[in-house]
Amino acid sequence: MDEADKRSPLAARETTRAGADVPTHVGIIMDGNGRWAAQRSLPRFEGHRRGVEALRRTVRAAIDLRIAYLTVYSFSSENWTRPPDEVSGLMGLLKRFIRNDLADLHSNNVRIRIIGERAGLPLDIGPLLTEAEDVTRDNTGLSLVIAFNYGGRQEILAAARALALDAAAGRIDPAAIDARTFERRLFTTGIPDPDLIIRTSGEQRISNFLPWQAAYSEFVFTPVLWPDFDRGCLEQAIEEFRRRERRFGGVAVAAAQKTAS
Ligand code: FPP
Repeated sequence: MDEADKRSPLAARETTRAGADVPTHVGIIMDGNGRWAAQRSLPRFEGHRRGVEALRRTVRAAIDLRIAYLTVYSFSSENWTRPPDEVSGLMGLLKRFIRNDLADLHSNNVRIRIIGERAGLPLDIGPLLTEAEDVTRDNTGLSLVIAFNYGGRQEILAAARALALDAAAGRIDPAAIDARTFERRLFTTGIPDPDLIIRTSGEQRISNFLPWQAAYSEFVFTPVLWPDFDRGCLEQAIEEFRRRERRFGGVAVAAAQKTAS
């Protein structure tokens, strides 16, 4: 057992079981930065800044645990209603995160994908997002999906609009539209649905985060404020996920066997 595994029973298990029974895709609603700062009489920005450090810790843990996809909610379509200095602070943190961490993420074989609306973003952000995606496109390790200027209802509406346009132009038969056709128009095309969604800070709602994709996700709500989130919190959430029985609208395996016999 190496040093890291001594600190982490879950990592030890995953090392030997090559990623067995860890969720393939974990989504995180990183909430509570403002409250973390208020509890310490610090400006809200300090909470967000410490939130980036929590994100770094979580990415490292996700790599160690061999999670395939980690999607983090970093700026919602609705976050534009925050005070202008907070909005520009969050934009600055994203820019700094990409500038400072891209090389390190790349050398750790992390693939970056950004989901959300690109139109309307400050002009210096779009090219940075494209660069992060392009540089890491061929990486085969963790896919870090950053939801930025993302809103789930907006995503669904855009997909519906695109399909309606295709149907009106005769490119698609409306009767042939199914979930797969629809998913190809979502930002998350090619990414499996999240198995586990974690929300920090004690709030229990999804706030427009992946509403289509979360149809059968397991949710874990933790009172921990995002800047305090660490590897142990992620492992605890995964342990809870493992205790859940996922039925996807069917029946439990034992019940199905009973019915069949
Ligand atoms: C919610 O806390 C958090 C956000 C709206 C932003 C999350 C952003 C980060 C963790 C840092 C930036 C991310 C990247 C990818 C660089 P809140 O402000 O709503 O907290 P509160 O509910 O306690 O006020």
